Amino acid sequence: MKPKLSIFDDAETVAERAAESLIEAIRGKPDLVLGLPTGETPLAVYRRLVAAFEAGRVSFRQLATVNVDEYLGAGPEDPRSYAYYMRRHLFRHVDIDPRRTHLPNGLAADPDAEARRYEAVIEGLGGIDCLLLGLGVNGHIAFNEPGSPHTSSTRVVTLAPATLAANGRFFARPEDQPIKAITIGIATILAARRIVVVAVGAAKAPAVQGLFRGDPLSGCPAAALRRHPNTTVILDPSAAAGLSGAC
Ligand code: GLP
Repeated sequence: MKPKLSIFDDAETVAERAAESLIEAIRGKPDLVLGLPTGETPLAVYRRLVAAFEAGRVSFRQLATVNVDEYLGAGPEDPRSYAYYMRRHLFRHVDIDPRRTHLPNGLAADPDAEARRYEAVIEGLGGIDCLLLGLGVNGHIAFNEPGSPHTSSTRVVTLAPATLAANGRFFARPEDQPIKAITIGIATILAARRIVVVAVGAAKAPAVQGLFRGDPLSGCPAAALRRHPNTTVILDPSAAAGLSGAC
């Protein structure tokens, strides 16, 4: 199944299109289960969701969210954690019920048990209706690094050197950067009813190329998305640069 490809002029329009498709999904199903990523790319999407909420165009009151990953060793009050990021950039600005916002607990005493619990939380919510994803420079989706099995569910992973290098900019000192995380699996991702991928900038061009053309079993985790029946990939021209022609 080929993911649908949309290319827009610039990063702002990519964010606008992604935000509008999420807003439309939430309005169509106010108790939607929304899967959310972190990183730099979604920030512009979250700004637009907040603006839409402030303008009275959308409410998050009945929504449930599940984040796709969390660093091991970083609790919700730790600025390095994705729980902190989500509160800072989205949750505290909208009318979402904090009890319906889910992330793996990065401080769990037994991380493997926490991963199993988190997979069960997603199942208990009836699965992910709509999943927003970014792409790692090496084609990772959530923190599923190259070599992740397509049958993988939520689990503890060790981050790839390329990921540590790309994300190093978010940490004041190298020793602050977690090297392990809990991530939802590729099977968890493929079970989402709808997926929206956003990527901007030339650094993502190889990952985008891998998504559309790479060998799903060897190199690029994002290539697994070609097995999903309802995925839209929204890009700016730099991220789409490696696709010339055939898609
Ligand atoms: C992080 C996250 C991913 C995200 C990716 C891209 O490592 N775990 O979910 O999609 O990196 O991040 P950015 O948008 O900052 O390039």
